[in-house]
Amino acid sequence: MRNRYVIANFKMHKTNKEIMSYISALLPLISDVNLKVVLALPSVSILSAIDKTRNTNLLIAGQNMNENDFGSYTGEINAEMLADLGTYAVLIGHSERRLLFGETDKVVNKKILKALKSGLVSVFCVGESLYDRKNNLTSITLQRQISKGLKSIYANELNNIIIAYEPVWAIGTGITATAGEIREALLTIRQILSEMYDEKIAKEVSIIYGGSIDENNCRDVAKVPQLNGVLVGGASLVPEKFIKIIKAFDVKLKKKVKK
Ligand code: PGA
Repeated sequence: MRNRYVIANFKMHKTNKEIMSYISALLPLISDVNLKVVLALPSVSILSAIDKTRNTNLLIAGQNMNENDFGSYTGEINAEMLADLGTYAVLIGHSERRLLFGETDKVVNKKILKALKSGLVSVFCVGESLYDRKNNLTSITLQRQISKGLKSIYANELNNIIIAYEPVWAIGTGITATAGEIREALLTIRQILSEMYDEKIAKEVSIIYGGSIDENNCRDVAKVPQLNGVLVGGASLVPEKFIKIIKAFDVKLKKKVKK
């Protein structure tokens, strides 16, 4: 069953104190929304954020995790540590992790398997580079990332996986993919999933978009059919901007329910 999500990716921004003030500002604004609002935070703020959001509708996620169990991996945290705190989800395979930290499709797959085992929802990020797009390699890249990333994952586990389509050329660049480009990528992703699993299962996976979403372009993106939400970087850092994005996606859900 597809859910709708608006997920903030804070990346390496904000101190713990700033995050606590941000949460205080955001909570009253989202008390009546009908979708899942998630903050992917720097690891050091996850525990205080979970304490602060207990019994609220704001969910907390990690931005990364190591694919190994407990062991000698200085500086790393694993899925079990995140789950133990009450973390809802974790971003996996973000393009910044792939590009800056050499994360391969194989590692991404191991991370998703570990996240599933610990009961965390995986926000599995995929997307083509500018080179790929210019050379008509978008679907080949998506095919590779998804087939390798979801290797050995059973259909019934896809309930705990959200696919985030994030074209690398749109991340932090101010260039958003057009509604048509997002729609096309969604169809490609569902086609890949239906070949790997089946059509019915492919339709049930939640797919969100990320890449330069802001308070001005969110309403257009929210109109893309079959899109289940967004992953927001820069514009999520200011509660007043983030709430506009949340409302853009929330309105659509309310209309749908009334039908
Ligand atoms: P952006 O980042 O909204 O700042 O482009 C999105 C992301 O990296 O998930």
